[in-house]
Amino acid sequence: MDVLVGYATAHGSTRTIAVRMASVLSRAGLTVEARPMEDVEDADAYGAFVLGSAVHEQSWLRPARRFVRDNLDVLGRRPVWIFSVGMPAALRGPWRRLAPRELPAVERGLPPNLGHRDHRLFSGTVGRDQLSRSGRVFFRLVGGRFGDYRDWAAVDDWAAGIAGELRPAP
Ligand SMILES: Cc1cc2nc3c(=O)[nH]c(=O)nc-3n(C[C@H](O)[C@H](O)[C@H](O)COP(=O)(O)O)c2cc1C
Repeated sequence: MDVLVGYATAHGSTRTIAVRMASVLSRAGLTVEARPMEDVEDADAYGAFVLGSAVHEQSWLRPARRFVRDNLDVLGRRPVWIFSVGMPAALRGPWRRLAPRELPAVERGLPPNLGHRDHRLFSGTVGRDQLSRSGRVFFRLVGGRFGDYRDWAAVDDWAAGIAGELRPAP
């Protein structure tokens, strides 16, 4: 079975996370492709989907939302996992504790009948050059610290769980 790890990124960290997931799935013996969702021509060619996007304003990027909307029929017939890449680990105190609310907020922007098996929020990288001036002020106000917050062990674990579901041990 061919697995698509489809992603949408603004500054690259979601791509690196998708590529890492693809290598975990590949090492588990699955045939897998990591590619931007906007470059996928025939979603029907894949037997399973792991789809992820950077989060901006608590929403997936437009190409990711469009892919899901346009391919809902195919996705409804296949196993689907989704992941979001935001900045929960860059926040402090009460803002950090609000992070779990991001998942339902993101899902409100996706079709309700997507039927995904799991949705995981990962942290990516947050650089000062990625934010507007007002965004930088807000980021500081909520206790944000710029940095690389990718948790590779968490990414590997999640991908290994997917591999286990798609290719149960003999
Ligand atoms: C304009 C903008 C808006 C953002 N909004 C959110 C947000 O609502 N929630 C969140 O967790 N992260 C937010 N972030 C942080 C990004 O999701 C985070 O930096 C992520 O690693 C970006 O992934 P990418 O490198 O693949 O683009 C925002 C970043 C930018 C530049």
